[in-house]
Amino acid sequence: MNTLEAINSRRNVRQFLDRPISDADLDAILEAARRTPSSRNEQRWDFVVVTEPDRLARLSQVWRGAGHVARSAATIALIAPVSDDNRVRESVQYDLGQVTMSIALAATPFGVGTGHAAVAEENLAREILEYPEDRFCAWLIALGYPADRPLTPVRKPTRRPFDEVVHRETW
Ligand SMILES: Cc1cc2nc3c(=O)[nH]c(=O)nc-3n(C[C@H](O)[C@H](O)[C@H](O)COP(=O)(O)O)c2cc1C
Repeated sequence: MNTLEAINSRRNVRQFLDRPISDADLDAILEAARRTPSSRNEQRWDFVVVTEPDRLARLSQVWRGAGHVARSAATIALIAPVSDDNRVRESVQYDLGQVTMSIALAATPFGVGTGHAAVAEENLAREILEYPEDRFCAWLIALGYPADRPLTPVRKPTRRPFDEVVHRETW
């Protein structure tokens, strides 16, 4: 699968088969995350990988839209530094967005689907994952084999029309 095929086949997955992801495949996905570009190459991220069913179930409680985490084969928690500087926070979030896509695109050729989840209950996330006080859990990326159908190119993506989004030379 080439890059464009991976981009076209990735979709948000919330229902997963009860099938583990091999350590080798999971490490390859994490290596892709580690290689993500970042502002000034600061790499303001750490990844906590969770595969224990009990911990996944608890982690799924950190946001009402995180139920799929409980059913995932693995979930990667994106941990980043706390900052009171708005520009730093925005910059970190940009970089974490790129990490997220690295994970999603690296997972796709393995047939592994991904589903983002936000984190609303920060204290609960910290209790479960035990990261330090100067960090926060920015996002959860749930991974697993899709329960509905394998990842193949999405024929009709739910996206705004190409000609509406793409502007040439000027707006
Ligand atoms: C920043 C961001 C936050 C998201 N948060 C959640 C979430 O908390 N729970 C969830 O089920 N999906 C979440 N999603 C998934 C989006 O709803 C999904 O990617 C979008 O509907 C497009 O669908 P697709 O990924 O299948 O193309 C999030 C996506 C992004 C980019």
